[in-house]
Amino acid sequence: MRFRHSHLLGIEPLAPDEIRAVLDLADDYVALNRSATKHAEVLSGLTQINMFFEASTRTQASFELAGKRLGADVMNMGMQASSLKKGETLIDTALTLNAMHPDLLVVRHPQSGAVNLLAEKVTCSVLNAGDGRHEHPTQALLDALTIRRAKGRLHRLTVAICGDIAHSRVARSNILLLGKMENRVRLIGPPTLMPAGIGEFGVEVYDDMAAGLADADVVMMLRLQKERMDGAFIPSEREYYHRFGLDAEKLAHAKPDAIVMHPGPMNRGVEIDGTLADDINRSVIKDQVEMGVAVRMAAMHLLAENRRAAAA
Ligand code: NCD
Repeated sequence: MRFRHSHLLGIEPLAPDEIRAVLDLADDYVALNRSATKHAEVLSGLTQINMFFEASTRTQASFELAGKRLGADVMNMGMQASSLKKGETLIDTALTLNAMHPDLLVVRHPQSGAVNLLAEKVTCSVLNAGDGRHEHPTQALLDALTIRRAKGRLHRLTVAICGDIAHSRVARSNILLLGKMENRVRLIGPPTLMPAGIGEFGVEVYDDMAAGLADADVVMMLRLQKERMDGAFIPSEREYYHRFGLDAEKLAHAKPDAIVMHPGPMNRGVEIDGTLADDINRSVIKDQVEMGVAVRMAAMHLLAENRRAAAA
């Protein structure tokens, strides 16, 4: 077995060889997605249900396209319109859907830990599409694939993750993955946006962009997650942009061939300069979106393979 799990709930339980297995298979799917046909029958006959309890553009579209390209029957549950409005709990909804025999359940939920809880109650494979500020494993995997393709390797790189670390599941999953693959991870942001106990993550922490970006190979910007902030974490957006917003001048502190990443959605002019974000010589933001479909195809392929092996 290349990937020894029945769910993809986070990066935390994955071994480096499992991460490589997902990325290697995803490379094949990048090629397929660039071909004329874009279709494989790996999930043919299987049912995939997407349950998004939080707004999403690229992640939901990407999971839907990934399932369709692999031949699954894909259903998107509009969770705003579901019985949740009538007071049904997350678990009741999950058990109702589980009774319809889905094979893959893709879940995004605002509460950290909700997706793990749900995975204990159902018989299908669960993929975490982001839970609160906990994990977003497919985002970290697509970021890893983007880095590996741009830099030719995924080890001994200096990666600076900048901005709102405290509220970010993207940062958490990336810190875990990059650490497992033996990279040097730096976190840059104001102390108010650093999570408590950050010292235990094996990272270096900076509150100054020039110092933190020095010699970085990869610069990963994060969105200011205003919807998760319940107080004033920054003096003003203008002041934030001045100190922590990435522009060409600050990027000049990184290696000359450093790449710029952002998981989206971007606040242009808040955490990143719009012109830099669109600069195809530095920014790989569009590649990240492309890699997202391929990584989700690979993850669902591996989980389906394990289900078939378990049923045989
Ligand atoms: C991220 C998320 O939802 O966690 N977006 C994404 O999945 N591409 C980051 C964010 O919302 O800022």
